[in-house]
Order: sequence, then C-alpha cells, then structure tokens
Amino acid sequence: MNTDAPVKLIFEYEGQETTGRLLPADDSAPMDLAAVLGSDNLRPAPPEIPNLAENQVVRHYTRLSDKNFGVDNGPYPLGSCTMKYNPKVHEDLAALPGFAGVHPLQIPETTQGCLELLAELEKQLCMICGVDRMTFQPAAGAHGELTGLLLMRAWHLSRNDHKRRTIIIPDSAHGTNPASAAMVGFEIREIRSGPDGLVDLNALEEALDDETAGLMLTCPNTLGLFEKDIRRIADRVHEAGGLLYYDGANINAILMQARPGDMGFDIVHLNLHKSFSSPHGGGGPGAGPIGVASFLEPFLPVPVISSTDDGRLFLDEQRPLSIGRVRGFHASFAVLIRAYAYILANGTSGMREVSEAAVANARYLQSRLSQAFDMPYETPCMHEFVLSASNFKPYGVSAMDVAKRLIDYGFHPPTVYFPLTVKEAMMIEPTESEDRESLDALAEAFLAIAHEAKTRPELLHTAPHNTPVSRPDELRAARQPILRG
Ligand SMILES: Cc1ncc(COP(=O)(O)O)c(C=O)c1O
Repeated sequence: MNTDAPVKLIFEYEGQETTGRLLPADDSAPMDLAAVLGSDNLRPAPPEIPNLAENQVVRHYTRLSDKNFGVDNGPYPLGSCTMKYNPKVHEDLAALPGFAGVHPLQIPETTQGCLELLAELEKQLCMICGVDRMTFQPAAGAHGELTGLLLMRAWHLSRNDHKRRTIIIPDSAHGTNPASAAMVGFEIREIRSGPDGLVDLNALEEALDDETAGLMLTCPNTLGLFEKDIRRIADRVHEAGGLLYYDGANINAILMQARPGDMGFDIVHLNLHKSFSSPHGGGGPGAGPIGVASFLEPFLPVPVISSTDDGRLFLDEQRPLSIGRVRGFHASFAVLIRAYAYILANGTSGMREVSEAAVANARYLQSRLSQAFDMPYETPCMHEFVLSASNFKPYGVSAMDVAKRLIDYGFHPPTVYFPLTVKEAMMIEPTESEDRESLDALAEAFLAIAHEAKTRPELLHTAPHNTPVSRPDELRAARQPILRG
C-alpha cells in the first residue's frame, strides 16, 4: 500500500450517509430523545461534524498518529526538553484502581494510601536534592519557578527587607527563568557568561547589591556545563543577603552524584515530567515540585502533608506564613506515582547509573559530532551539549536546515537557536536511555548531513521531504494561525 498517496481529510468525506452510531436506528420506532435527555439538553441543530462509519474514523486517527514522532519511534535529542525512556509499566501502576479512582476531595481518612505515597515521595526527593521539605502543588517546571520565587519574596518580606527586588539570571538560562521572575514582580538583572560558558564571577560581583533577592541558576547549565565555582557563587550570593534558586529541570545530569542543597541552593524545582519517567512535551500533564531548606518551610503553599501523633496523615491548611495555594490539588497525581515507581525501581545505585549513562552518552555524541560541527566550548559536557552550525555559513546552510534534514533521516531534530549565547546553536541531549547502536545511527545521520551541507546544500534548504507539510512559514503560522479547517 502506498502510504504517501494523498488521503482525504476527515471533513472531505462529508455528505456521506454512513454512521457509526450505536443508538437504535429503527425509524419506525424513533427514540424520544427529548423524553430521555430533557428537551433543554437537546441541540437546536445537529453538530457540524462529518457523518462517518467507525472504521473511517479509526483509520483517520491511526493515520494521524503515524505522522507523530515520539520517543517510541526513535531518539529524541531535543536538548533541555528531551523525551526520555518512560517505562510503560509505570502507566499500569498509575492506572491501578486505588490511584485512578480516588477523588482529590475525598476526606483524608479514605485516602491514607495516596497520602502515604506523597509523603514517601517527598522524603525520597528531599534526600535526592538535599533539601528539607517539598510541595507537590506546582504543575510544571515554570510553575515551580513561580512558586519558588514567591517563597523567596515572602521570606525577604518576613524580614522586613523590602528593598530586595532583583533576581540575577545568567544569559544562558532557560527562558522560563526570567519570565517567572517577571511574573512575581522582580526586576531581572542578566549577567553575561564567561568565555568558558560558565557564570562570570566578576559579572556576578558587579550585579550583587542590597537589592538582590536571589540568583536563579541551572547546574549543569543549558550548555551542559557544570558550574565548577558553584560553592563560591553560593557563598557570595548569601553574603550579599540573597537566596539561591536551583532550576532542577535537568537533575538527571547529577542524580545521586551531587545535590543542589549541598551546593548551597535554598530552593529547588524538579521536572518530574522529564527526569522521573513521565513524558515531557505538549504542555503537560506535569509536576514541578519545589524543595526548600528548613527556614523556608513555613512559607510553603498550603496544604502541606503532615501527620498526627498516632501516625495518621492529613492535609495541613493552618500555616499562617504560607504563600497560599498555587494550584487546586497536588500537581498531576499520576506523574507523582510514576516518579515514585521510578525511584523505587532504580534504587540509589540505579539512579547513579542513570546520571552516569546520561553524561557518557552525551560525551560520546559530542565527541563524534565535533569532527564535523563547530564546538563552542571545549569543556566535556554533562547531560547535553551545544554545537554550532556556523561552519556551514559559507554554504548558506543554517542550524534550522540541519535540523529539518534530520527529519528525512528519521530522527527528531535537536533544540535549535538556544541558548541565545551561541550562534546557530543546536542543543543535543541524547539521555541515558539510548544505547550505543542508536547513538551511532544518530551520529551517522548528523555526519551525513554535514557532508551534504557542503556538497548539496539545496537538499537541506528544502528539507524535510517526507512529511505532509515541508517548511511552513513559521512567522505567519505564529502571527496568523489558521486553527480551523
Ligand atoms: C532548564 C529548564 N528549566 C525550566 C524548564 C521549564 O519546565 P516546564 O516546561 O515544565 O515548564 C525546562 C523545560 O524543560 C528546562 O529545560
């Protein structure tokens, strides 16, 4: 069967008299829907959807799902936002009736098992991060950032330190960092990175003053580089009266090797929907829990899970210094179940292997690709690395061309044009889940494209060639989106 043949859109079948309905079709005894449903609940006119047979609908959606690229199709080296192995068995655990059937408004006496899972997960994550307490309310990494910065503000205000309105953020930071700080009302002071891609200590020194509320840092940073001066950075920020916020979306790089709390961070967020076995992408569902040092515990969002003297768990709402609620319940409970299963299944040594493999895989790929692409930083990377396609400029080839051509080779493109500090950037994160064979296949594709860039650049300019839509006008798609057929 020729799967490339043009297929009709579901709306193009319109006018057909087929139907997939299960309701009785016996016109001699039509069902009185008004009597069954109540006349107020009836539509004034039939819905404007095609009238199709069940198999047409099923085939339509199956075809569409084939056009999607996911981690089940192949490597997904999307730096910083990668999609890693998400064990399917965790889906079964999250779907166990005792978890899936529970209602968040049930009284705690009937949900002790679920609360115990949350309390245990909190203990495990506190141990992993080197912090004292956690909240599971934030629904995503960026939401965690917002919550952490609200805590930071509450702490400064509780000390009557009203001047602290500035958050220092390196120029390599993930875009959500300044966005979250701005949402809390902080002013952002961006500091440049040094030539080694790390925080420039002089720039930090210049930025610190008695208005500093804190520093937001990702470590390893978005270039995949570990801040070797992190203890010095932490000491200087603390001496200046600020707090340290750890963007832990990429904790898979240091899992069980180093802990943000030990590095001097006061607030940490994690992206459980990335590092702890839930698919990341498409905007959710996610979980971006926040961990804090003990002096920040009073400010955590309510409710906090607490236990009575006889060991019963309950949701404590009576916390006068709390910043309040940041979400209805506890993030996406299924994501928390998967995270707990992931921690138990791997254990301490398994999680250490996760970070070792994540770093080894990234370094292997970095070394193979350095033969053909510009490498802006010499330092061996951690979980991800950034290449530049600048060396193909003489051939008129950009990072976007390379990324689009990768689709023809059957791979998901890497993150491109981020971080902004590197020209023609391509940010690659293979994750610990890829084996040598798939890393080699990915490397071969990159190297073949690098060769094409010099010999047949037009192939890259017009890529991808095997998708229903090749190169949309991305600007128009964003400014004038056509959302209906
Ligand atoms: C370093 C970093 N910070 C923050 C985020 C934001 O997380 P989210 O997309 O869950 O809001 C991401 C996303 O992966 C990230 O990579």
